[in-house]
Amino acid sequence: MLKFDFAHTKLKERRHILPFQLQVNRAHSKIINRTGEGSDFLGWVDLPVNYDKTEINRMLDKVNDLKQKQVEILLVIGIGGSFLSSKSGIDFVKGYSYTEDKVLFTGTDLSSDHIKIVEEKLKGKKWAIAVISKSGITLEPALAFRHFKNLLQQVQPENTNEYIIAITDAEKGALKELSNSEGYTTFTIPNDIGGRFSGLTPVGLFPMAFAGIDIIKVMDGAAKARDKYLNDSSLKTNDAFRYAVARHFYGLKRWSYHPDRATPSGNNPMHWTLKGSKKYYEEVFVTWTPDLIQTSEWVKQLIGESLSKKGRGILPTSATFTRDLHSLGQTFQEGYKSFFETVIWVEKERNEITITDDLKNIDGLNYLIKNKFSDTNIMTYKAVTASHFSGGTPVMTILLDDKTEETLGYFWYFFFITTAMSGYLLKVNPFDQPGVEVYKKKMFKNFKRELNGNEKNN
Ligand code: PA5
Repeated sequence: MLKFDFAHTKLKERRHILPFQLQVNRAHSKIINRTGEGSDFLGWVDLPVNYDKTEINRMLDKVNDLKQKQVEILLVIGIGGSFLSSKSGIDFVKGYSYTEDKVLFTGTDLSSDHIKIVEEKLKGKKWAIAVISKSGITLEPALAFRHFKNLLQQVQPENTNEYIIAITDAEKGALKELSNSEGYTTFTIPNDIGGRFSGLTPVGLFPMAFAGIDIIKVMDGAAKARDKYLNDSSLKTNDAFRYAVARHFYGLKRWSYHPDRATPSGNNPMHWTLKGSKKYYEEVFVTWTPDLIQTSEWVKQLIGESLSKKGRGILPTSATFTRDLHSLGQTFQEGYKSFFETVIWVEKERNEITITDDLKNIDGLNYLIKNKFSDTNIMTYKAVTASHFSGGTPVMTILLDDKTEETLGYFWYFFFITTAMSGYLLKVNPFDQPGVEVYKKKMFKNFKRELNGNEKNN
């Protein structure tokens, strides 16, 4: 379902990966014994095998209810961890056009023009709202919810609240309070699962179920990944931990002496370095199908919020090929090498389309006829990977079999556990996000200052 390789890097298993075994064992024990920092947020670890089946059935019943009411569009309102999993999951399994017309997303920004575009898309359609917020007071979704709740009231004045689903905390928070008083159908975000790890909770599952995705299969895929990665700490066999170590080596660990020193000193892995290698400051997630652009966004949040702390971590960024080869190809090949690449490659597309014959053949491409578009994608992927490596960029690859539900669940769990491992290797708490609060405090202070100023001026 998923394979990881670092063939296009200078990493050598015995020299650069296996020496981390002891550190990995320690971090692994923190995950399974729940003794590491942030262990209150390890609810995702066993979720694929102990999830609440009644909650899943309630979600499926609500989806059926909406379908019976002929609801055509689900408007999901949420931001960050409260929308990235469902949006990326739907694009992955159903194709990205699905989230352009059948499951729409808002509450992700403060742009009036975006609100207007969503309104236009809803015009003349029957729609419902899934508002997703653990706290219920996050600015962007809270403002969007006010707006679209009022609009829904106008277009659906009868039983409006039957068309509103709230996904929020079990007991507390503004949205929970409102749901209780309005009688919305609610689904729970477990207390021990943070936003970016919540794809396998109603946060990710409800919108995906509305999109017709088999959410049980998503859970099955995650359970398979759990079987594979949770109880095996061996760096010879556990791809999630091999990936964590490879990226730790390249970008995350703090070099303990001059990075260009070629010789390993002693057995301390912190003193090992690649000949001519250096620290990398960015990890570029490269995908090769537009259906996975949102997957990169999801990975970026998971990696960024989990690991960028105490001045550590790397900047997770992304590119989609072949599109970006025509804008960033030069940078990737010959630019300053501050980054390594992690390709997320899918072997099998949902559709196969054959390249057609052209009588005039003015573009000279008739030699490709009868091949599939995906054949050219594979050949290009291999050529680009080799070129970037020869240009000095390490390229790691995560190979996925296909874009099915099971693979999605497997992939998500792989990323959850590799991220937890990365955090503990880096000696940060992978499950908090204290930095996110800093701008919010300033923003609210600024609101008060500017609005008071305006009052005085009026
Ligand atoms: O991952 C996270 O914790 C964040 O991205 C939150 O999901 C995001 O800020 C939204 O918060 P809330 O669900 O409380 O509205």
